[in-house]
Amino acid sequence: MKIAVFSSKPYDRHSLEQCNTPFGHELTFFEPRLSPETVALARGFPGLCIFVNDACNAAVIADLAQHGVRIIATRSAGYNQIDLAAAKRHNILVARVPAYSPNAVSEFTVALMLTLGRKTHKAYNRSREFNFEIAGLEGFELRDKTIGVFGTGKIGQMVIKNLSGFGCRILAYDKFPNEAVKQYATYVDGPTFAREADIITLHCPLTPETRHILNEETLPYLKDGVFIVNTSRGVLLDTAKTIHFLKSGKIGLLAIDVYEEEADYFYRDLSDKVPTNDELARLLTFPNVLVTSHMAFLTDHALRNIAEITLGNFAEFERTGQCSNQITE
Ligand SMILES: NC(=O)c1ccc[n+]([C@@H]2O[C@H](COP(=O)([O-])OP(=O)(O)OC[C@H]3O[C@@H](n4cnc5c(N)ncnc54)[C@H](O)[C@@H]3O)[C@@H](O)[C@H]2O)c1
Repeated sequence: MKIAVFSSKPYDRHSLEQCNTPFGHELTFFEPRLSPETVALARGFPGLCIFVNDACNAAVIADLAQHGVRIIATRSAGYNQIDLAAAKRHNILVARVPAYSPNAVSEFTVALMLTLGRKTHKAYNRSREFNFEIAGLEGFELRDKTIGVFGTGKIGQMVIKNLSGFGCRILAYDKFPNEAVKQYATYVDGPTFAREADIITLHCPLTPETRHILNEETLPYLKDGVFIVNTSRGVLLDTAKTIHFLKSGKIGLLAIDVYEEEADYFYRDLSDKVPTNDELARLLTFPNVLVTSHMAFLTDHALRNIAEITLGNFAEFERTGQCSNQITE
């Protein structure tokens, strides 16, 4: 199939080309994000391959339909960037990669906890300047902490399993509890979860219900000095209120791999530009905040799986007109 690959970085190109031999798709790589300005590039491609920050809203989808796109496959598990109702109206099938490596995101989540918990990012910077002073680098041990895992699907479960080796107490919260989780964690109700967790890590999808789930009303219920980790979607956190509660000390540590307005900033080198987003700039001034650029998925294993499953999605659609990884809701 002729496929236009948007938001393609060198690592996407490498993994997709490497895995394409058995599929034989005709891949054309476009570096820009899909947007109203770039949608014309998709003309003549029945297959469209996108990523998390591509703008796949109703207007763009209407244009895609006009350009002959019949299937949109996102190289991600989350699909909140796609207007599914609009795709359905235009008879465009939407597919995703439901699971490619929960381990990749889980290990990164634990890495963020350990980095802020032991200040290894600061130690690294000090050593590079020949500053071998360790005062101010005091950390904590995970075994002394109660960690709350919000969302116990594929990634949340792996986080729980990975954390179980540290000897911490693990609380879990999910709308649909999972038996397997109970081996390592205890499901509790929302108020208990909020009250008792020293560290909260978010692993639910972005839905209307989870949008700004940590906000002006819910944040005050958390433990004083709570450590929040978000590797799911930026919009789960109300950024303005998060900054407010960082300033007051209510939030003691924050590690985010995702940011509410990341689409305009992440995956780009803006180091020679003046920062234009005041909230992001403010977040980066806190010594107790760690920001990474939506990269928890970025391992060799995950990229290989993403490429194989995505190319398979196009092949199945081409063969049968259907796709087992179609998003239907
Ligand atoms: N940072 C990254 O690189 C990266 C990579 C992959 C996925 N993600 C994010 O991680 C999220 C989780 O991925 P997954 O594969 O574990 O998804 P999943 O569908 O397997 O699990 C999500 C869990 O959240 C629960 N949930 C949904 N709504 C809830 C609510 N309102 N309250 C409590 N629980 C709720 C579901 O019941 C489910 O158990 C994705 O949606 C995506 O946003 C981020």
